Amino acid sequence: MRTPIIAGNWKMNKTAVAAVEFVREIRHELQNIKGIDRVVCPPFLAIPAVYEVLQATNIGVGAQNMYFAEKGAYTGEVAPDMLTPFCQYVILGHSERRALFGETDEGVNKKVHAALAHGLTPIICVGESLTQNEGGETQVFVSGQVKAALAGLTAEQTATCVIAYEPIWAIGTGKSASAAAAGSIIGLSVRGAVAEMFGEHTAQQVRIQYGGSVTEDNIADYMAHPDIDGALVGGASLKPSFVQLVQNAIVN
Ligand code: PGA
Repeated sequence: MRTPIIAGNWKMNKTAVAAVEFVREIRHELQNIKGIDRVVCPPFLAIPAVYEVLQATNIGVGAQNMYFAEKGAYTGEVAPDMLTPFCQYVILGHSERRALFGETDEGVNKKVHAALAHGLTPIICVGESLTQNEGGETQVFVSGQVKAALAGLTAEQTATCVIAYEPIWAIGTGKSASAAAAGSIIGLSVRGAVAEMFGEHTAQQVRIQYGGSVTEDNIADYMAHPDIDGALVGGASLKPSFVQLVQNAIVN
């Protein structure tokens, strides 16, 4: 049985002060929801302060990116062991980073290796553009991204990864993929790619989220799909109603 996981990707929102105020507001209720992993991913500068507020809880903290090198002349970058005192998770290869900041499959793969080497759980993002979707290229593209991100890992390492399938056209648009469509891509192209590389047993252990315009109103539909193990939530993770979203993710 895979424990479901809901992660809030705050993107470039909330100062450290606003972040602390927000997590203080939601922590008790969020803490009381059982049977699901809950994670918040604040901007770098808010991470230590958010960690302070959440350290006595079982709510996880994640970063939204990191660099793969240990240290050195990489102006503006953040190394894995700068995160480990505060974070258990790190989002890697988000489509915004790929599209706006030039991240490549190869770079994402290096970051996945570095995260695992430092005991961080990567939340690896994959997903097709609207053009690719309309061109019928989704399956090949998404499974290619998955295979590139996991290249060189062991089956044991892979089993601990979280993968987020986020169709780019669904991110921040309010046009979410249907649970049936998302579940089918996740089953065939994400879990299927893991199975091709590492076997069915490992594929069954990997937790795979859907992301893209997830709200408290549609989360239950995704969670009802047997291949969807949670969600990576952007906009809807910035408001106190994130608690309700997590609550609605519990499907019996
Ligand atoms: P959204 O973002 O929930 O605002 O669509 C999801 C994401 O980019 O992870």
